[in-house]
Amino acid sequence: MAAPKEMGALAMLLVMAFLSSGSSALPRQLKFSAKHGEFKILQVADMHFGNGKRTPCQDVLPRQVASCSDLNTTAFVRRMILAERPDFIVFTGDNIFGFDASDAVKSMNAAFGPAVTSGIPWAAVLGNHDQESTLSREGVMTHIVGMKNTLSQLNPAGAHVVDGFGNYNLEVHGAEGSRTENKSLLNLYMLDSGDYSTVPSIPGYGWIKPSQQLWFQHTSSRLQKSYSSKPEAQKGAAPGLAYFHIPLPEHASFDSTNSTGVRQEGISSATVNSGFFTTIVAAGDVKAVFTGHDHLNDFCGELTGIHLCYAGGFGYHAYGKAGWSRRARVVVASLEKTQKGSWGTVKAIKTWKRLDDKKLSTIDAQVLWSKSSTNTQRIL
Ligand SMILES: *[C@@H]1O[C@H](CO)[C@@H](O)[C@H](O)[C@H]1NC(C)=O
Ligand SMILES: *[C@@H]1O[C@H](CO)[C@@H](O)[C@H](O)[C@H]1NC(C)=O
Ligand SMILES: *[C@@H]1O[C@H](CO)[C@@H](O)[C@H](O)[C@H]1NC(C)=O
Repeated sequence: MAAPKEMGALAMLLVMAFLSSGSSALPRQLKFSAKHGEFKILQVADMHFGNGKRTPCQDVLPRQVASCSDLNTTAFVRRMILAERPDFIVFTGDNIFGFDASDAVKSMNAAFGPAVTSGIPWAAVLGNHDQESTLSREGVMTHIVGMKNTLSQLNPAGAHVVDGFGNYNLEVHGAEGSRTENKSLLNLYMLDSGDYSTVPSIPGYGWIKPSQQLWFQHTSSRLQKSYSSKPEAQKGAAPGLAYFHIPLPEHASFDSTNSTGVRQEGISSATVNSGFFTTIVAAGDVKAVFTGHDHLNDFCGELTGIHLCYAGGFGYHAYGKAGWSRRARVVVASLEKTQKGSWGTVKAIKTWKRLDDKKLSTIDAQVLWSKSSTNTQRIL
């Protein structure tokens, strides 16, 4: 044990190391691996973290109750990271379960802890429960943005006021050392889908507001322009993926005949349709949307060329279904090999889920998008 005086010096050293490292302390630019030409994303939905060891699990089998707590959620995040070794981890809201988290900061630090210590870049968006503890939505998102190894951002830079907290985009560049190392080949859009309606005549959950849709439109259009500008011009657009918490009304378009996975409860979208799906379709680059919120739904369905996917409930303090394993979704984008043997642009986007059972079983693997299935002209 260090004496208090030494501890003070150590703390000072750490602070100085942090300050002097400046922007290099920020996680590196997301990029495809030079070795495999892949980029893998782990989605963790609805951890509902409370106070840790003291917080019991919901909806587990009677024999599991006594030994189950938030720590099982933590263990599951760790197991997923070890099993999949993702390049990026995204937490899609209800990361903490407000009412049962007596200190929002402590709860978040514990909930995101395994991601932080893994050294893997991670990001989060807000759900409808994150603000119910000791911090507001802005406070929660501000804390997240300040955490280690995160690429989360509060809101887009610039003068325009965008509703919510935590609307931002992330670029995934080509492999280091390749011709596309400074070019975004995959775009991630993170949005705050709100909590509850504040319009008295509209009951229910929040929705993606016009200001956010305008930001998305501008961002998508800017990225599409730069994708098709020199150097290494590409036709069309880099594929995009959108991550947020509350499903869209269009998530209700599917049943078991035209989706992969299960629908075991209603689609808890807003009671009004704010048009974000139409905005996405019109923008043309987004291939799939990933949400959480309804823990018992884990399906993907395709509507107008866009996959709408749930991740399925992850957290043990969240409602679930006893005997139905908690789960997580993985997405992998892979680059095509050019004739010259270097990495080209994104060729396919695949997904699967892993269950928190003994073997971390993989289920429902499917292709969400592939270049050959579109009319996009091949270039390079
Ligand atoms: C929770 O973790 C404990 C301790 O590792 C374990 O014994 C128990 O089986 C886990 N419960 C569930 C539901 O996974
Ligand atoms: C990417 O940017 C870096 C830093 O500006 C530069 O050194 C490198 O040559 C660029 N790579 C390509 C392929 O243009
Ligand atoms: C899925 O199938 C159901 C009927 O079984 C149909 O009502 C629905 O429109 C279909 N959805 C899509 C997106 O094709």
